[in-house]
Amino acid sequence: MGSDVRKNLIAGNWKMHATHLDAIQMVQKLSYRLDHGDYERVEVLVCPPFTSLRSVQTVIETDHLSIKLGAQNVNPNDQGAFTGEISPAMLAKLSVSYVIVGHSERRQLFGESDAFINQKMRSVFDAGMTPILCVGETEAERDEGSAMDRVGSQVAAGIAGLSDEELGRLVVAYEPIWAIGTGKTASADDADEMCGFVRSQVGAASSEAAERTRVLYGGSVNPGNIAGLMAKRDIDGGLVGGASLDPDQFASVVRYWM
Ligand code: 13P
Repeated sequence: MGSDVRKNLIAGNWKMHATHLDAIQMVQKLSYRLDHGDYERVEVLVCPPFTSLRSVQTVIETDHLSIKLGAQNVNPNDQGAFTGEISPAMLAKLSVSYVIVGHSERRQLFGESDAFINQKMRSVFDAGMTPILCVGETEAERDEGSAMDRVGSQVAAGIAGLSDEELGRLVVAYEPIWAIGTGKTASADDADEMCGFVRSQVGAASSEAAERTRVLYGGSVNPGNIAGLMAKRDIDGGLVGGASLDPDQFASVVRYWM
């Protein structure tokens, strides 16, 4: 449900899946399943691997699609001796409008710290794009009752130094780690409580901006559970992993009200 001032956003995080040839087909198939009315209600975003960005950009521009393009990661430096990394300007030049920052897989598998994630946030805004800041607790943290402490500190560190205007444009994805790729979804009520908590943490910096900040839920989102999540006040959309790889399923998630 979200709010009138916040447009719903359904984002597909393809993670390390699909060659650029697969990606072209996936975006084309997705576009055949969506129409003008869908894009009016929902901003639709796909985040393929770096190697597919140029191909997907070309499909979107050639076919005049309303699908937005996002990246899964960025290095916060402008340029330089950072072998294997990709800069914000390189992404912006490919018409990338969103960048996923601080996904739990990057925090856990690649040791990304809150401080490094904050640098990325700054660099994404500076390049004219919008970051999707990912936060979420582990199963152990949830069980011991420290989920809010963990998520609160991730949000505070991630948004440090951002202007009120940037906070209003920001997207935060609450993704409990125990729900990612497991088929276990947070209940809609629990997800809403945590997304509301995320908004209150942004509100501690600017209550006015926090009403515009979009907060997504992620973690085993699928066509069967999205409607219940979207009915909640503080959930403005979803960050979808596995179900975004199948155009039929992803289109059903986008058209959650049908
Ligand atoms: P799943 O939808 O596969 O659980 O992945 C969620 C996720 O990590 C999206 O960023």
